[in-house]
Amino acid sequence: MIERVLAIETSCDDTSVAIVDRTGWVHSVVAASQDLEHEIYGGIVPEIAARNHSMALIPLIEEAFKKASMNWKDVQGIAVTSRPGLMGALIVGVVTAKSLAQAKGLPFLGVNHLEGHLLAPFLRDSQYEPPENFDYPYAGLAISGGHTSLYQIKGLGEYRILGATKDDAAGECFDKFAKMAGLGFPGGVKVDRLAKMGDPRAYEFPRSMMHDDSFDMSFSGLKSAGQRMIEQMGPMAVQNHLQDLCASFQEAIVDVLLAKLDRAARVYSSQRVILTGGVSANSRLRTRAEEWAKKSGLTLVIPPIRYCTDNAAMIGYAGVLRLARGEISNLDMGPSPQTFASDFQ
Ligand code: KG4
Ligand code: ZN
Repeated sequence: MIERVLAIETSCDDTSVAIVDRTGWVHSVVAASQDLEHEIYGGIVPEIAARNHSMALIPLIEEAFKKASMNWKDVQGIAVTSRPGLMGALIVGVVTAKSLAQAKGLPFLGVNHLEGHLLAPFLRDSQYEPPENFDYPYAGLAISGGHTSLYQIKGLGEYRILGATKDDAAGECFDKFAKMAGLGFPGGVKVDRLAKMGDPRAYEFPRSMMHDDSFDMSFSGLKSAGQRMIEQMGPMAVQNHLQDLCASFQEAIVDVLLAKLDRAARVYSSQRVILTGGVSANSRLRTRAEEWAKKSGLTLVIPPIRYCTDNAAMIGYAGVLRLARGEISNLDMGPSPQTFASDFQ
C-alpha cells in the first residue's frame, strides 16, 4: 500500500524535496533557492539552474528525511517533476529519482508540474488546511513565471484546459517590467511591494482580450506598453513615479486575470475557485480575488505562498495519489520540456 512518497521538483530554478502523505499531509518540505545565482544575469540561465540542482539535490533529500524524522523505510515511492520545464533542470531530478528508485527498490512516477500546482490547495500542515467544504470540481488559475492558464478540475487526472495566455506568462510580464524599471530579478515581488504605495489609476495600460468571448489571455501588448512608457518618461521620471507605475501596471494584470476567472466561474457554474502558482503570492491579486469571491458567493482557496510557488510538496501529493492507484513510470521515461497532450482534456 502506498501511503507516502519522497518528492523531487527541479523544473525551473528552485530545488525542492518533500515527504507527503496520501491525505495531503506534508511531513517535510525543503528548498534551495537560486535567485542570487541568476540575479546578476537578469533572468534564469538554464545551465546554471541544472548545475545548482545537481549540487543541491542529494543534501536536500537527506534534510527532508531528517526534518520529517523519517528514513527510506517510511516511503513507498518517489514522485518527480518530469514535465514541463527546462530540460537540463528536469534531467537532474528525473535521473536522481530513477537512480534512487532502482537502488531502494521503490516505484517512481513522473508528474506534470502544472498538475502539482492545480492540486496544491489539498496540501496540509500544522499551519494550513483547505476549507472543510473544499473538494472537486473547481476552477483553477495557474499563474507563474512560465505559465498562465485556466482549468476546470473535475478530479484527479481530469483537468480540462479552458484557456491560456497566447504569449507571455503573467509572471514573466511582472519580471520584464521590473527589469526595465531597474528593480532587478525576480521582479514580481518588488513590483508588488512598491505598488502598495501607488495609485493603480495613475497610468493607462492596455488590458488585451479582457472582454473577449474566450478564456485566453495576452500579456505581450502590456509588456510593450510598459517598455514604451518607461522609455518615454526617462529614468528620472520613472524613479519619481515608480510606485504609481508599478500599481498601474499590476492593476492591468490583476484586472485581466480576475475577468477570466469570473468568466470561468460563471460559464461552468463553479462554486469553488483556486489561484495557484508564484503570481498568486501577489497581494493586490489576493485582496481583489477575495473581495470578488465574497461578492459572488464563491469559495476561494489560495494556498499559502510556500505551496503556491514551485515546491516539491505539490508534486508529492499528485504523485502519491497516482502511485496509489497503480500508475508507475518505466526506467526509460524521459523528461519533456512540454506538457503531454494526454495530461489535459
Ligand atoms: O510558480 P513560480 O514560483 O515559478 C514558476 O513556475 O515560474 O512563479 C514565479 C513567478 C515569477 O515570475 C515571480 O516574479 C512571480 O512568480 N511572483 C510574483 C510575486 N511573487 C512571485 N508576481 C507578482 N507578485 C508577487 N508578489
Ligand atoms: Zn510553477
